[in-house]
Amino acid sequence: MDKIQVRDREFTISIPEAKILQRVSEVAQQIQHDLKDEHPLFISVLNGSFVFAADLARQLTIPFNISFIRVSSYEGMASTGELKEVIGLSESIEGRPVIIIEDIIDSGFTMASLLESLRRQHPADLRVCTLLTKPGNLKADVRIDYSAFNIPNDFIVGYGLDYDGFGRGLKEIYVVDTEA
Ligand code: IMP
Ligand code: MG
Repeated sequence: MDKIQVRDREFTISIPEAKILQRVSEVAQQIQHDLKDEHPLFISVLNGSFVFAADLARQLTIPFNISFIRVSSYEGMASTGELKEVIGLSESIEGRPVIIIEDIIDSGFTMASLLESLRRQHPADLRVCTLLTKPGNLKADVRIDYSAFNIPNDFIVGYGLDYDGFGRGLKEIYVVDTEA
């Protein structure tokens, strides 16, 4: 379906499933090439990155661990720009190569706070892997090591990303229709 409705808004397909999976596989190859013998720990940022993390994990053939954390700084369709909390990292990351898996980097403030918080725990290496980046909105100074897609500043939904909690199960990525 090219057009869908999520809650009160209409969305149009932007990235089809096959293209997403192809890029996820390419990113996985890049990561394996870079961290072949390193036994990295992936930290997937819930909720949005769960679909990306699951597909990425299944493309990797190197040994790795994966953990899930939560940060929350976004309500509705506009970023509040402040990090509320980081929850759920139970194991030590000291001395380990760590790769954060995120759904989308928008202003970059969420990632900047997360990086700062994880750096305090002295990982051996700390990298950022995001499905999507909105370069036009990026305000924080974050180095993005792996990004599957650069997209315009429009609000999107699907493949793990939500609009007010809905739309996460969509296989494709959809962009919001601007109101006429
Ligand atoms: P940032 O702190 O502005 O980079 O916001 C990052 C977070 O905002 C992401 O982890 C998403 O949860 C959310 N976000 C940003 N843009 C979108 C979007 O277009 N659709 C859904 N969620 C988004
Ligand atoms: Mg998120």
